[in-house]
Amino acid sequence: MKLWRTLPLIVGLVSLARADQVALHEPSDEASLLSQATSDELLYIHRTLIEIESITGNEEKVGKWLESYLKEKDFTVELQEVSSKRYNLLAYGKKRETTILVTSHIDTVPPFWPYYHNKTTDLIGGRGSVDAKASVAAQIMAVRGLKDQLQDDLSLLFVVGEETGGDGMRAFSEMEDRPEYDIVIFGEPTESKLVCGHKGMLGFSLKATGKAAHSGYPWLGVSANDVLVEALESMLVLRKRLPWSEKYGNTTMNFGKVEGGVAANVVAEAAEANMSVRIAAATPQIIKSMIVGALEGVKSKAQELGGDLEIEWVSEGYAPVDIDCDVEGFETVTVNYGTDVPNLKGNHKKYLYGPGSIFVAHSDHEALKKKDLEQAVLDFRRLIIATSMMHHDEREET
Ligand SMILES: *[C@@H]1O[C@H](CO)[C@@H](O)[C@H](O)[C@H]1NC(C)=O
Ligand SMILES: *[C@@H]1O[C@H](CO)[C@@H](O)[C@H](O)[C@H]1NC(C)=O
Ligand SMILES: *[C@@H]1O[C@H](CO)[C@@H](O)[C@H](O)[C@H]1NC(C)=O
Ligand SMILES: [Zn+2]
Repeated sequence: MKLWRTLPLIVGLVSLARADQVALHEPSDEASLLSQATSDELLYIHRTLIEIESITGNEEKVGKWLESYLKEKDFTVELQEVSSKRYNLLAYGKKRETTILVTSHIDTVPPFWPYYHNKTTDLIGGRGSVDAKASVAAQIMAVRGLKDQLQDDLSLLFVVGEETGGDGMRAFSEMEDRPEYDIVIFGEPTESKLVCGHKGMLGFSLKATGKAAHSGYPWLGVSANDVLVEALESMLVLRKRLPWSEKYGNTTMNFGKVEGGVAANVVAEAAEANMSVRIAAATPQIIKSMIVGALEGVKSKAQELGGDLEIEWVSEGYAPVDIDCDVEGFETVTVNYGTDVPNLKGNHKKYLYGPGSIFVAHSDHEALKKKDLEQAVLDFRRLIIATSMMHHDEREET
């Protein structure tokens, strides 16, 4: 009964997989990875998404455009208001509960850079061209091409706020009647590789306080800058012995922003440093206790003098995130940047893939090759087909 029901699907998938093999291994001339119509449509979506500025906080317009586009293509689209005028989009065919979810984000980092397509180099650039509007455009074309074969068993989710901590994905995760998925495919720039995991994250600030005085009479005050410099010195020592792992390498600590005092001739009353840790092993709790321990001496010394040193945690942080990468035919890699992967709770298998390189993603020369954008449509399809077949096989076995 079960086999009888899934057989046509499997046959459909296998023939599709074959069709993809042909397209993948015989790209006779570079411009023809996809049919002309599919390529044109892909470039049109990509271009429109980039032309609509959507720096985090300002995602409304791009969301509205996507909503109307997807509705026109016969998707059912649900909007979820994350905060005032900021919407996640959930799109699906005939059924709301689907096996597979394909997702990425529609916000970008600042500042806005306009779209361009240089036909000589075949580079397509502009803010978001890589991170993550390339993934969004390729995912839409991949899902549109498979919707019928997979009997509408696919959903698309485009969230806001990924670049500033993931409030969009967290809101979706907590949505009351949200569907659960078996497989979730996340889109971020991975240079077209399958990511087997990424480092964890912990952000914190060091806040030193002192007492202002004339710099000619420093003993009348307490220098917050002195306290902070000593604290940072302890951090320089600590960061050399943070935990590491084979898989993710060293835990690193960045002194991102350091600020203190008001003028050269004034003993500083306040100073602070914003820090971020990329965690390669252990948990945020363990790293936190190492940091607290390393700062104990500086803190009590500051307090004896009448100053203070406080640690403010930006959030709970998260441990390294292991991601599934058990699909043949993809290069695999681990990365050091954060994603929305840990923000979606559930028991689903997770995959992370996307066109373009993280090394240009937040830069003023954010761009990717048209060929890589096109390849991503084929790769997303291949991922969807392979993971869906694995899923069916597993269900047959149990
Ligand atoms: C395209 O790129 C080439 C090589 O970098 C450059 O010389 C040319 O000016 C660019 N064309 C346009 C229209 O920007
Ligand atoms: C630095 O940390 C303080 C909190 O201690 C916070 O108010 C401020 O926004 C942070 N600055 C940056 C650039 O993250
Ligand atoms: C990790 O740190 C050690 C010592 O600080 C260094 O020798 C090593 O090259 C680092 N490993 C990586 C992968 O960066
Ligand atoms: Zn991104």
